[in-house]
Amino acid sequence: MAATTRRFPCHLLTLSLLGIVTLGLPTVAGAQKSIIVQTNAAGDNVHLIDPVSNTIVGEISGIEVNHGAAAAPDGSRFYVSNEVDHTLDAVDARTLDITHKVPLSGRPNNVAIRGDGRRVYVAIVSSPGAVDVIDTVSMERVKRIATAGGVHNTFMTPDSKYVVAGSIAGRNLTVIDAESEVALWTLFFNAGVRPMSFETHPDGSTKRIFVQLSNFHGFAVVNFDERREELNRIELPEIPEVERHTEFLQGSPSHGQGVAPDGKTLWLCSKVNSHVYAYSLPDLKYLGGVHVGSHPDWLTFSPDSKYVYVANAGSNSTSVVNVETLKEVVQIPVGQVPKRVITAVVPEATVAGWKTATATSRASTSREALDYEFFREQVEPIFVHKREGRARCVVCHATRTRFRLQASPPEGATWTAEQSRRNFETARRMVVPGDPLGSRLLQLPLAEEAGGNSFHPGGKHWTSQTDPEWQTIASWIRGSRD
Ligand code: HEC
Repeated sequence: MAATTRRFPCHLLTLSLLGIVTLGLPTVAGAQKSIIVQTNAAGDNVHLIDPVSNTIVGEISGIEVNHGAAAAPDGSRFYVSNEVDHTLDAVDARTLDITHKVPLSGRPNNVAIRGDGRRVYVAIVSSPGAVDVIDTVSMERVKRIATAGGVHNTFMTPDSKYVVAGSIAGRNLTVIDAESEVALWTLFFNAGVRPMSFETHPDGSTKRIFVQLSNFHGFAVVNFDERREELNRIELPEIPEVERHTEFLQGSPSHGQGVAPDGKTLWLCSKVNSHVYAYSLPDLKYLGGVHVGSHPDWLTFSPDSKYVYVANAGSNSTSVVNVETLKEVVQIPVGQVPKRVITAVVPEATVAGWKTATATSRASTSREALDYEFFREQVEPIFVHKREGRARCVVCHATRTRFRLQASPPEGATWTAEQSRRNFETARRMVVPGDPLGSRLLQLPLAEEAGGNSFHPGGKHWTSQTDPEWQTIASWIRGSRD
């Protein structure tokens, strides 16, 4: 993420941030503006935040379970990986419409873009793992680089010379030469490799990599250029046990980090502590922590290095943190389970053309009835129902989770009777008969303020217990008392 920021001349961005017109500077057609691009992992939209006003100024919609985001250096496009369709979606920055969907070799996670904007490198997490190479002129997948295990995140080193791919299953990171697109070396760890960030030498070449690891509340320090080995590990501070979050850490107590564009500080998220922590560079001296929202998952910076933007997956917000005062300035409400967040630069005229989409809520009707028939008629459709700004329950719950639904029926069709029976059995295990509020099925997708639990990795689908869908499931649960 820091890599995305650093590819642009920073002095220029600072000027445009201050509102000074950057006329007369070479290579830039008009005034440029930095934009914080906030993905929503359980949503179908991406929010575009103006870091001057700290408000949402644009929204990309129609990308369910969006994962990674990258921006073209000239601000003409955004690239977003799509976990439902297994595509890399290209979005025209001016219209915010999806213009291309490039089929990938498997289920994607994060993406990285080369400094010249010609290539996007997509992490393919499904086994056996790979980095898919997308040519942004032909908008085709031109290569698939095999890796030792599914890839969770791809990064570009700040000098754009290497692609670095981290694997959770393979417990390694692989360094790929960005010119020949050939894997050069792989470093193995005793735990899965999560997010990374990069420290540079004065000439811009890469000096060290900071690596977050599965089930480790801290980071490893890796020597990049000489010895290519792990030097040491640093643990993040601890807070009292009662204040910690231990549910749904998804194997990653500390996930998300970045080196500020000025290279002076390293910031890391702690999901356990709902904090971000700062360390000085190059000495890695602890500077302090800031309490943010719940389950902070990723971060990025304003180009002037004065603010950190933190995606709070559990609070559905983006925190803005002042680097100097170590204080949270504001939390901006965004979509469902915000994760990857990047800094992009786009022409000012492009931003001026955006119109913020307004959410309209849809409602369905409920009716009293009981048991299996009621479940099949009234409850099951809720799992395939598309709610505005949210991914459907079935796209996540037909794989990988304990609340395991049958594969989604084809468009227009319904589940077979046998499949419905299985769904019924699965759903039964998620409820306490007669006790809607004590039932996981109703607690998790319900907003915390409305009586739900604090975090559901699949987002909050109901803002109140009066939501017709919530009510429908509640009557099913009450009715199944007998
Ligand atoms: C973006 C993906 C996603 C979406 C969409 C989603 N969920 Fe989830 N949900 C998860 C994940 C991940 C977990 C935790 C998985 C686990 O540990 O089993 C979870 C957990 C749950 C659980 C608890 C499972 C347990 O083991 O206790 C329930 C119940 C649940 N979700 C219901 C729903 C319902 C109902 C919807 C739709 C209204 C929904 N989810 C939408 C990803 C999603």
